[in-house]
Amino acid sequence: MRYLILSDIHANREALSAVLARVRRKRWDKAVFLGDLVGYGAHPNQTVEMVRALKPLVAIRGNHDKVCSGVEDGEMFNRVALQAAQWTRTRLTQQNLRWLYQLPEGPAIVDDAFAIAHGTPIDEDAYIFGEIEALNVFRQTTFPLCFFGHSHFPVVFGLSPEAIHTVLTTSPTFRFRLEPGMRYLINPGSIGQPRDGSPLASFAIFDSQSRTVSINRVAYAVDRAQKRILDAGLPRPLADRLALGR
Ligand SMILES: [Fe+2]
Repeated sequence: MRYLILSDIHANREALSAVLARVRRKRWDKAVFLGDLVGYGAHPNQTVEMVRALKPLVAIRGNHDKVCSGVEDGEMFNRVALQAAQWTRTRLTQQNLRWLYQLPEGPAIVDDAFAIAHGTPIDEDAYIFGEIEALNVFRQTTFPLCFFGHSHFPVVFGLSPEAIHTVLTTSPTFRFRLEPGMRYLINPGSIGQPRDGSPLASFAIFDSQSRTVSINRVAYAVDRAQKRILDAGLPRPLADRLALGR
């Protein structure tokens, strides 16, 4: 099976379109979404509909999906994120809002092959930034392989019986094979708001047969996404950061 792994789209239609155009020529069998479909960007309905159209699809919710659809009120959000979530809630169609509202909490197990989580498999809203958080998750779980999102930073944490390793990915394509006896926590990066210093949209493909993962970066019309954010009256920092990848 070839799994298309998508995370943190954040209503960025331009970025998602570029990713889907790229994978149209690649074969994939199942789409897997790690949460945060909306919030920040200017096209919540379009991006929800684009993801809903991917079949077959396994999807879990992110913290922004919860606040934008009314599962939570966003009291932990900063001012900009909350403003974007409130704007998003007024724009979503009833159907899309309901679809987001019913997205399940992670972790989920996909085909007995791997786990997925938004933040971590222990707490959907917690972050894995570095080895300390990764080690903590490895210790409290037994998954050999888990894909996670939320930090918007593409990275691989590998745990051998002796040590934990961090592998930073390289652009535009980073391909590696999972080694037997190792456990992995892998972030495919963010499609709609990358934060690793590169503005390129980021996604992964996992081939369960060859046990290889590729993390791929795709250029898209950042200026168009920025213009849409400003035209919508959303906070300017949400537009500015897209060009910086921060
Ligand atoms: Fe996110």
